[in-house]
Amino acid sequence: MNIAVRYYSRSGNTKAIAEAIAQAAGVQAVSVDKADAKIAEPADVLFIGGALYAYGLDSRLKAYLKTLKAGDAKKAVVFSTTWISKHSIDLIKDGLKAAGIPVEDEFFYVKGKPSEAELKDAAEFAKKFF
Ligand SMILES: Cc1cc2nc3c(=O)[nH]c(=O)nc-3n(C[C@H](O)[C@H](O)[C@H](O)COP(=O)(O)O)c2cc1C
Repeated sequence: MNIAVRYYSRSGNTKAIAEAIAQAAGVQAVSVDKADAKIAEPADVLFIGGALYAYGLDSRLKAYLKTLKAGDAKKAVVFSTTWISKHSIDLIKDGLKAAGIPVEDEFFYVKGKPSEAELKDAAEFAKKFF
């Protein structure tokens, strides 16, 4: 099974979740602003995460979502660490749906910096999808 993990993280909270998921899947988590973030081979599952900054997603994540196309992934699973609302989840889901990528209703969310227990929860959550 081909798993891809992509994220954008300014201060490391979302990155920590991405890395916990990637470790569970035996792959590398890749920041969306890196050259190798492009989906080279269609993924069975794309895990993708981000957070809100001043009520919106970071422009790099928004731009990345626009590059995705149907066929890049059979399905996507979203995660976030946004403080106040889960609006980031909806914004990422909307971007994926606009790209034609089916999105799981279920998502992984923690508020801010994840604890060790929450990182384990993230890994367990991810394993449901592969
Ligand atoms: C400049 C800035 C603006 C933020 N704006 C929001 C916001 O509008 N809504 C919200 O829920 N959280 C907001 N947050 C909280 C972040 O979404 C939260 O800290 C998140 O875990 C950051 O993820 P990261 O460490 O992966 O960058 C903001 C944080 C910063 C630093």
